[in-house]
Parts: sequence; structure tokens; C-alpha cells
Amino acid sequence: MRRAEASAPGKIILFGEHFVVKGYRAIATSTSLRARVSVEEIREPGIVIESENLNIKGSLNLNLEGNVPRELLVYVEILRALRERGFNMIPHRARLKSSMPISAGLGSSASTSVAYALAYTALHGDPLKGRDLLEVSLEGEKVAHGRPSGIDNTIATLGGTIVYRRGEEPLKVEVNIPEGYTFLIADTGVKRSTREAVEHVLKLAESLWKIASLIYEAADKIVEEALKALKTGDVKTLGPLMYVNHGLLNAIGVSHEKLDAIVYEARKHGALGAKLTGAGWGGCAIILAREGDIENLAEKISKHTVTIEKAKINVEGATIDYNS
Ligand code: MEV
Repeated sequence: MRRAEASAPGKIILFGEHFVVKGYRAIATSTSLRARVSVEEIREPGIVIESENLNIKGSLNLNLEGNVPRELLVYVEILRALRERGFNMIPHRARLKSSMPISAGLGSSASTSVAYALAYTALHGDPLKGRDLLEVSLEGEKVAHGRPSGIDNTIATLGGTIVYRRGEEPLKVEVNIPEGYTFLIADTGVKRSTREAVEHVLKLAESLWKIASLIYEAADKIVEEALKALKTGDVKTLGPLMYVNHGLLNAIGVSHEKLDAIVYEARKHGALGAKLTGAGWGGCAIILAREGDIENLAEKISKHTVTIEKAKINVEGATIDYNS
């Protein structure tokens, strides 16, 4: 019986989330937290999809009909997209596991989608790569997120750090954070729906476009300045750009009292910069800090978070980890 395993990295959006949905630029980096999917051929003529993190499973026949919890429909869409591309349905059991918190803005669902599409096509002996892998995984995200910009799936596929604009080839970004500085990920533990946050912002932008367009333009300028600062390792510019970006995200209504409290405390206790990351309304914030300040900062924001971790960024994209 054949078996394949693949993994893909989670992401941190450094600048430009939400604005990216309407075609402005954003910068995302990959993290060492990965989603892993193992796909094993089975004798019974069906498909079983199990999520270890959510502790749920779904069963399908080989026509992709069956009983699947809503949270797993994303993966049925991926199989459908693969079938349309000529991959026949192999009876299999898929086990999905993610080392990042779910619905927290770190791209767990996108990286699981990418890892599933890669593991399943590896099982076929014809692993998808690059744009093909990205496009198939995006079919799933459309179910989960309505109108995804594609940034989460792109970084999960390619890894590294990218500047992304919808409809254009992503460009690799050089990141040179100097020794002694680090990004922290602070998780508020508040779960939220990316789809709803995105819909909220799009509605606001539509009703207030005269003003919102200026906010979108400002966010794009932040990305431009951040690209230079990341390349030259200019943390003294990067930090304030993060605070301003957080302010713009707050202005469009996607912050949360815990995220604001984290950003406020971070600023008060010497962090160079901080902002929410991902869709907002909960989830995670990122903080740029001196290594020597981490302990104090972690203590000061601990009442607003469930975890605070040092982020390892700029890692490898999707990989096949086992194939037999
Ligand atoms: C979610 O990680 C990032 C958003 O910009 C949505 C998207 O780009 O699809 C909020």
C-alpha cells in the first residue's frame, strides 16, 4: 500500500493584510510552524479525512459524496480540483496535523491545504509543484475564506519571504534582521473567522472609499518602505512602520481589545514595533524586540495572551517528507 507525507509552512503577514485583498501589496514570511499531512492508500473503496487538531473526521465515496464536517469541506474541494486536473481518486486515509494554532492568523488552513494537495499528488507519483500546487490549494481556500487574496497559499507553497500583489508573480524579499533582534508571536487565544473579517473590511471600503482609498494607499507605501528596511536590516524604521500598520488595521475595524492591549504594552515597554497579523479580530500579534527585552515584554503582555513565542521565519516552502 502506498503512503506519502508532505508538509508546508505557516505564515506571518509582516505588512499589508486585508489591503492585499483589493490588489495592494503585502509582505509575508514563512514560519517554522508547519502543517503535516500523511496520505495512506486503503483497501476499502472510499476516502477518510481526519483532523488531529480539531478531532473530527469525514468519510467520502470515490465520487466525493459523503458525510464531511464543515471544517473539512476545504479538503473535499482540493480533491475535486485534483480530479478536474485528471488525478483519479485513490482510496485513502488522510491525516492532517498542524503545529500552529487554528483560526489564529498563522495560515494553518492554507498550509494544510497545500500539504494535502502535495501529499496526494505524491501518492500518485506525480507531485504538483509551484503554480499548479498553489492553484489547486486555492480551490480549498475559496470555500474557507470566500475571497482570499492568495497570499497565505503562496507563502505556504514557496516559503521564504515574499512581496505579494494579487494577480502578479510573487517576488522574493531579502530579510536581514540584525543579530540581537527578533520577532515574537503573541497569541490572544481568541478565535475568529477570516471570511467574516474580510467581508467586513470590503464593505467598509466600499461605503467609505474616498477615505478608505487613502488608508489603502498609505498601507501600500508602508510596504514600500518596509521592503527597504527589511533588506538593510533597519529595525529602527521597521518597528514604527509596524505600529503605523497596526493603526491602519485598527482604523478599518479589524483589531481587538487584546490585540490593542498587546501593541500598547509592547510600545510602552520598549518593543521596536508591534501589530496584529492576519485577519485580526483576535488571533495573533507580532512584536519586533531586542533579545534582551523579551522576558520583560512577555511578562507585561502575558495577561492578554495564551502563548508568546520567538518566531523562526524565512523557512523552506512545501516539501514531500516521505513517499513509498
Ligand atoms: C489572512 O491571512 C490575510 C487576509 O489579508 C486575507 C487574504 O489575504 O486572503 C486578511
